[in-house]
Amino acid sequence: MDVLKAVATRRAVKQYDPDFQIPEADLAQILDAARMGPTAFNLQNWRFVVVTDPALRQQIRAAAWDQAQVTDASVLIVVCADLAAWKKSPARYWQDAPQDVQTLMAGMIDQYYRGREQVQRDEAMRSCGLAAQTLMLTAVSLGYQTCPMDGFDFDAVGKLINLPEDHVIGLFVAIGKGTAPPQPRGGSLPRQEVILADRFAD
Ligand SMILES: Cc1cc2nc3c(=O)[nH]c(=O)nc-3n(C[C@H](O)[C@H](O)[C@H](O)COP(=O)(O)O)c2cc1C
Repeated sequence: MDVLKAVATRRAVKQYDPDFQIPEADLAQILDAARMGPTAFNLQNWRFVVVTDPALRQQIRAAAWDQAQVTDASVLIVVCADLAAWKKSPARYWQDAPQDVQTLMAGMIDQYYRGREQVQRDEAMRSCGLAAQTLMLTAVSLGYQTCPMDGFDFDAVGKLINLPEDHVIGLFVAIGKGTAPPQPRGGSLPRQEVILADRFAD
């Protein structure tokens, strides 16, 4: 499937076949696609918690306003990010580059993020959002349905997955075999409201 088709057919699907299990190879392909996605300074600050344990899924569902996708989709991926990735041996993000490039990048990373907590968090959320879209488009291209989700208690889910102190949760992506078509599209804002030429009006 080409990218445009995956973009056009991806919808937030809410009902899933609870008995369907996504083949391991497909799940690996979906996750590896997300790992190929962009991150600032190649930080690769996303962390993907793939929740398959049914008991844990039930607990997460209870913390997610009882939304059925949480337990019924084949997998629930909690897309997280490490806020402190910038200071955890950053040269390793450039391990395949020459030594001088590694040193240069490590210095730039430190300079950019040190003491800038808002930037660290913004960057984490950017990485999670981009990764979530890659997860969804890849899953759709392989014939699955998906749902992005942030309708849950972030603190409660953080406890359930043992989220480290210096990590954040971005969102969930549920992936599985849909059993009901998505609701009709909610509607698109006019192009001219969302696409601007050069700058906003004064
Ligand atoms: C960050 C984010 C959080 C969302 N949270 C939920 C959610 O908790 N439950 C849900 O059913 N749908 C959720 N959605 C799906 C949106 O409602 C859906 O993407 C939107 O209505 C557009 O529909 P479409 O994705 O089918 O085009 C979420 C979407 C995004 C991007």
